[in-house]
Amino acid sequence: MTDTDNQLRHLAIIMDGNGRWAKKRGLPRAMGHRKGAETVKEIVRAAGEMGVRYLTLYAFSTENWQRSEEEVSALMDLLRQYLKYDLKELQENGVRIIFIGERRMLDDDIIRQMAHLEEATAANEKMTLCIALSYGSRQEIVSAAQKIAALAKRGDISPEDVDIKMFSDMLYTKDMPDPDLLIRTSGEQRISNYLLWQIAYAELFFTPTLWPDFGKEELASIIQNFNQRERRYGKV
Ligand code: FPP
Repeated sequence: MTDTDNQLRHLAIIMDGNGRWAKKRGLPRAMGHRKGAETVKEIVRAAGEMGVRYLTLYAFSTENWQRSEEEVSALMDLLRQYLKYDLKELQENGVRIIFIGERRMLDDDIIRQMAHLEEATAANEKMTLCIALSYGSRQEIVSAAQKIAALAKRGDISPEDVDIKMFSDMLYTKDMPDPDLLIRTSGEQRISNYLLWQIAYAELFFTPTLWPDFGKEELASIIQNFNQRERRYGKV
C-alpha cells in the first residue's frame, strides 16, 4: 500500500449509544446492548461484503468494569451468547476472529471460548474480526514499554534499537495494519482510550446515530465519504 492509497483495509468502530437507545424507549440498558449485539452481526457481515479486511470493534473497555454489576453481567452474558452463536457464521463467511485486551480479568469459560474461536477460525482469510474486550490503549502501551525495558535490561537490545516498528510489534495489534478509518456512533467525539497508537493517521468519522440504529446503509455511505477524502500523512 502506498502512502496516498485510500484503500480501506482496516475499519475500527467505537460502538456507542446502547444505553441511550434503551433509555429513549424506557427499557433497561441491557436491552440496548442486546439490540447492539444484533447490529454487530449485521455490520460484521456487511463489512466483509464491502471488502474490509480487518474490522476492530470496541466491545468492552477496561473502564467498563466500573459499571454496575448488573450491567457488566448482562454484557458478559451477551458476549457468551455471541461467542457460541458465531462460530458457524464466521466459518461460512471466511472470518478469522481475534481478541485484544486484558483477558485475565474475564471469566474462565469466556476465556476458553475465546481461545477456541481463535483457533477454530485461524485459517480463515476473507476478513479478520478483532474484538477489543477488557481493552485499554494506555495499558497496552505501558505493557509494550515494559516488554521493551525487560529486553534492554537483559541486554538483548540497546536503547537506540527501540523504534516505531519494534514498539508496534509489542502491541496486541502487532499482526494487523493500522486502522484507516475510525467510526464512533452516538454523537460523542472522543477516542476513549481506544487504539491510541494505531490511529495516528486514521480518518475519523463521528455519526449521531446510536449504535443499535446503525446499519449497513450508513456504513456504506461513511465508506463512500472516506473514499473521497485525501489522505496526506503529513505531506503536502
Ligand atoms: C456503549 O454503549 C457500548 C458498550 C459499552 C458495549 C458494546 C457492546 C455491544 C454492542 C454488544 C456486545 C458485543 C458483542 C461483540 C457481541 P453505552 O452503554 O456506553 O451507551 P450510552 O453511552 O448511551 O450509555
